[in-house]
Amino acid sequence: MKTGRRILKLLWILVSIVVVLVGWFIWSAHRVPIQRAARTFSAPAMRYDLGKVLVVYYSSTGNTAEAAQRICAMTNGSLLEIETQEPYPAAPMLFVRAKLDQSNSKYPVLKTALPDFAAYDVIFVGSPVWWSSIALPMLSLLSHSDFGGKTVIPFCTQGGGSGDFFLRFAREARNAKLAEGIAFSGVSKIAPSDLDQKISSWLSAIALKASRSP
Ligand SMILES: Cc1cc2nc3c(=O)[nH]c(=O)nc-3n(C[C@H](O)[C@H](O)[C@H](O)COP(=O)(O)O)c2cc1C
Repeated sequence: MKTGRRILKLLWILVSIVVVLVGWFIWSAHRVPIQRAARTFSAPAMRYDLGKVLVVYYSSTGNTAEAAQRICAMTNGSLLEIETQEPYPAAPMLFVRAKLDQSNSKYPVLKTALPDFAAYDVIFVGSPVWWSSIALPMLSLLSHSDFGGKTVIPFCTQGGGSGDFFLRFAREARNAKLAEGIAFSGVSKIAPSDLDQKISSWLSAIALKASRSP
């Protein structure tokens, strides 16, 4: 009798745990990602003249958006955020969904219209790293784009490593004249001034190269 009660109690605990876990997964699957509170944006002082610049980016939690804003401010460019028609779920479901969609090469439909790349001299393209590669919304943009011989400069934000991001980018960016890209790690944890420094050294190298090429 005592053993029976114990088994019942154990079953009850197990059922409760399963219900809580399932509920949490369903809830997080339908939750729209919450943007990290924006850090106060202090416009960087450095400026680089690269001609007419477009900075196009996708960002799920704000890191790539922050890098994009800073690049844009330093190059006096135009900023364009890529949005998907259907929002992705928040973490942890985002990890599962991104992995599944990546395995099935399932790219999302974009809400944002394709920009007119011909109107710019230089196009920066930024995306987070998802599962060691380019985030799916950016792959979606690339699959519909033709850069028509323009200078295209990729950048990514990541937790620890960029995997095949830049190799894949070189494969996917149709008719792009690629310039040296950059990866930013742990953007939310580094001081804005340090991020600016990193962007600044990168941009000055690009500007120098551009000034030397015919
Ligand atoms: C689905 C998913 C997969 C990720 N995979 C990687 C990865 O393979 N390597 C890595 O360094 N970071 C990975 N990250 C971390 C993000 O690249 C990093 O937090 C990035 O800065 C997020 O950019 P965002 O805030 O603009 O969305 C992943 C994040 C998500 C949501």
